[in-house]
Amino acid sequence: MTDKPAALPARPHFSSGPCAKRPGWTPDQLAIESLGRSHRSKLGKARLQHAIELTREVLEVPSTHRIGIVPASDTGAYEMAMWTMLGARPVTMMAWESFGEGWVTDAAKQLKLDPTIVTAPYGELPDLTRIDQSHDLCFTWNGTTSGVRVPGGNWIRDNREGLTLIDATSAVFAQEIPWEKTDVLTYSWQKVLGGEGGHGVLILGPRAVERLESYTPAWPLPKIFRLTSKGKLIEGIFSGETINTPSMLAVEDYIDALTWAQHSGGLQELMSRADGNAQAIARWVERTPWVEHLAKEPATRSNTSVCLTLPGTSADQVKAMVSLLEKEKAAYDIGAYRDAPPGLRIWCGATVDTSDIETLTHWLDWAHAQVTA
Ligand SMILES: Cc1ncc(COP(=O)(O)O)c(C=O)c1O
Repeated sequence: MTDKPAALPARPHFSSGPCAKRPGWTPDQLAIESLGRSHRSKLGKARLQHAIELTREVLEVPSTHRIGIVPASDTGAYEMAMWTMLGARPVTMMAWESFGEGWVTDAAKQLKLDPTIVTAPYGELPDLTRIDQSHDLCFTWNGTTSGVRVPGGNWIRDNREGLTLIDATSAVFAQEIPWEKTDVLTYSWQKVLGGEGGHGVLILGPRAVERLESYTPAWPLPKIFRLTSKGKLIEGIFSGETINTPSMLAVEDYIDALTWAQHSGGLQELMSRADGNAQAIARWVERTPWVEHLAKEPATRSNTSVCLTLPGTSADQVKAMVSLLEKEKAAYDIGAYRDAPPGLRIWCGATVDTSDIETLTHWLDWAHAQVTA
């Protein structure tokens, strides 16, 4: 029988969103001068602009691309891009897990675009080299619910005719983003940076701006989706003049996370922390006979949302493991996503410490022995 581990992870927060706060986070470290003030005051706008500038610095976004803070988290940012830019040319929707499937539904059933739909089962990717790049391309860089990521951006042509619309919410700050291949990129703060939910970040390359200024969709746009006025991009959105009221508390928390990232070595260090965490899980999978990565190809395995299957363990036993670990305060929220195959999903983003992942693996061994005894 596997012995019960003596020590708990220091932070048993392994949820894939909202994810663990940064190491050392406490609420009293947040700047609060902007709270209770207008977000359009000099101070409010300066804090929003600071968040944008820090984003550019930490994420290494080139000056060719604009960065805006928009409503409704990653979903808001991504749907804003879909609703304002799609329809100008044919569109290919690619999906390999639940969130990508959501965008397919948007394009097919809501916008009624008659898209080309390219899908792959959980754990796999479609053949990316066969994608018609005269189309606009919508896809999720890192499939949070399948643990599959695209293996870089070499398959995207520099001289593509269509736009790339990339949902990168569980990839940014952990995986290399090729900005020259990126026309639109979206994410939210609660993933790799462990920020608060609520706001989305919309990053636009020059070709996306050109689309916005030259194309008017056939459908009406609600106010929170409108990025242009009189045929011109609303530049204020990209300098801290948000469309509607943001949570300044969430903004200050995002600034705190970015400042931590900047002081801890920046993007390279964030990426290597995520890699180190994912490698710690991979080493354990390697020596553990009852667990496998859901992502079949090692090159497509996520270093953030690591998804695992337990082939000889029933779905009920996996559920029992997850509950037991939560009860023991050894791991919170590590069950697979509701639409994904039964299994475990362990967040490995930069805000998680490798020592906690290593401790967790001992608890996984123990919990598995308990539920299969
Ligand atoms: C790939 C992906 N897209 C979209 C979402 C939805 O994000 P939000 O809740 O920030 O709108 C998630 C959430 O987990 C996600 O993982």
